[in-house]
Amino acid sequence: MTPLMTPRKILVTSALPYANGAIHLGHLVEYIQTDIWVRFQKQRGHECYYVCADDAHGTPIMLKADRDGITPEELIAEVGKSHIADFNEFGIAFDNYHSTHSDENKTLSSLVYTRLRDAGHISSRTITQAFDPVKNMFLPDRFIKGDCPKCGAKDQYGDGCEVCGANYSPTDLKNAVSAISGATPIEKESEHYFFDLADFTEMLRDWTNAGHLQAEVRNKLAEWLESGLQQWDISRDAPYFGFEIPDAPNKYFYVWLDAPIGYMASFQNLCDKTDLNFDDFWAKDSDVELYHFIGKDIIYFHALFWPAMLRGANFRTPDAIFAHGFLTVNGEKMSKSRGTFITARTYLDHLNPEYLRYYFAAKLSNTIDDLDLNFDDFSQRVNSDLVGKVVNIASRCSGFIRKKFDNQLSATCVESDLFAEFIAANGAIADYYEHREFGKAMREIMELADKANQYIDHKKPWSIAKEEGKDAELHDVCSVAINLFRILAAYLKPVLPALTTEAELFLNAPITTWIDELQPLVNHTLNDFKPLMTRVEADKIAAIIDDSKENLLKV
Ligand code: MSP
Ligand code: ZN
Repeated sequence: MTPLMTPRKILVTSALPYANGAIHLGHLVEYIQTDIWVRFQKQRGHECYYVCADDAHGTPIMLKADRDGITPEELIAEVGKSHIADFNEFGIAFDNYHSTHSDENKTLSSLVYTRLRDAGHISSRTITQAFDPVKNMFLPDRFIKGDCPKCGAKDQYGDGCEVCGANYSPTDLKNAVSAISGATPIEKESEHYFFDLADFTEMLRDWTNAGHLQAEVRNKLAEWLESGLQQWDISRDAPYFGFEIPDAPNKYFYVWLDAPIGYMASFQNLCDKTDLNFDDFWAKDSDVELYHFIGKDIIYFHALFWPAMLRGANFRTPDAIFAHGFLTVNGEKMSKSRGTFITARTYLDHLNPEYLRYYFAAKLSNTIDDLDLNFDDFSQRVNSDLVGKVVNIASRCSGFIRKKFDNQLSATCVESDLFAEFIAANGAIADYYEHREFGKAMREIMELADKANQYIDHKKPWSIAKEEGKDAELHDVCSVAINLFRILAAYLKPVLPALTTEAELFLNAPITTWIDELQPLVNHTLNDFKPLMTRVEADKIAAIIDDSKENLLKV
């Protein structure tokens, strides 16, 4: 066997979920997408690490803990546990999962900040902001409510009206009140610290055009760069749940300053547990590949602030930012009242997580287009592709092998051309995986599954079995089919790790490499076949929607 290519060294992240709420199906688009890509890289023999963390800081987390009558530390510990449980059950295999509220992150955030400051990229000035005189705290825009200055709609947030779509600043709201205490906000001055993003205009112009971004993302950034980069306010006044700024007592890093540094901190935490070396991955001259998977709502932070922070603090910048679109359910934004705001846990209560992994894979591309979870389409695809095509190959042929041939495959793979054709598809399928064209990869794989089923339909093992003296032919046909099934399982391994594990058990042969290295199993003993996947049941979907509506009543 020839080695595939020189192994690459790759570090991959997904965006860090906020520690104040449950993981929902929208989040899972991202974690499943990233996990598939990482599993694919590992199956190819590359050295690939996938790190993530809970994003634990900020006003919403502080206030939620307050409402729940617990400390922020207690809240993030509790939520952190539920996130990890959800991810595990969905087969998201992080190499490390950490928290931004950690020693590693505190140290690294201070380091990045002081390097930026010492290089002259931090300035401070006094600004005026809305202040809650009862709660004694400054109010982020989202925590001020009032009447829309344009259409008069009541109960609108400080940054824009959900009724007429107008954008404005909180000072424009009529009858403004603090959403926390109900008090009328007053204006108050305070000194804030700013990161001078404009110092990096040239650097970012180059970086955003150097092949690190998808075309649509690059165009968006060109517009932002065109309209001029503003100073970024990176400080918040106490009370704030976060890290105090080293040289500024009572001032805290804004959550988005330390959040991306959380990628480094999670990796540092992994280094401390293994013999990996932090600098190999993050030093300016690192030749390790670094990729961030994110949703399209947080491009600004990842493609402008983050590369500028890294460059200014003398670290390496990412090789690429891979942005994806948003999940809609049955064609609409996820909605609590329609029961389509579905948490990972509610889904897990009723359905096999691998159905969703496959469905997302089948719908994903490398664009930032939104993707829709349509439950009819979901059932139909899972039932027809996975149950009807892939698993069916094994269930149609394994019985004969067990009953007639003592679970032993025949001595040769008689359809070497067909086997070779399945293997030859590996280059195209690998390219699709590599470029995050998972939908196209799934289509290729299902075309092969169709071919395997056509082979079986054509040979009709159930008829051969009835004829005298045709045992050898029956043995050969079923053995070919099982070998084709094995190739399909190997192709689907990044998407369906649990199903593949079951298949490997049945086949009594692990799949540890990419498909080009697979040889037919001959004279090989199988284990008894157990059903690998059952059909999606409609009542389970109805139950998910019902439970999601009930969740709403509980909060
Ligand atoms: N905490 C920040 C990220 C900090 S990264 C240094 C955050 N958290 S989040 O919990 O709101 O979102 C986490 C990821 O999930 C983001 O990439 C976000 O785009 C993604 N998604 C959240 N809702 C989503 C959908 N409905 N659909 C697809 N992705 C979604 O942002
Ligand atoms: Zn309005």
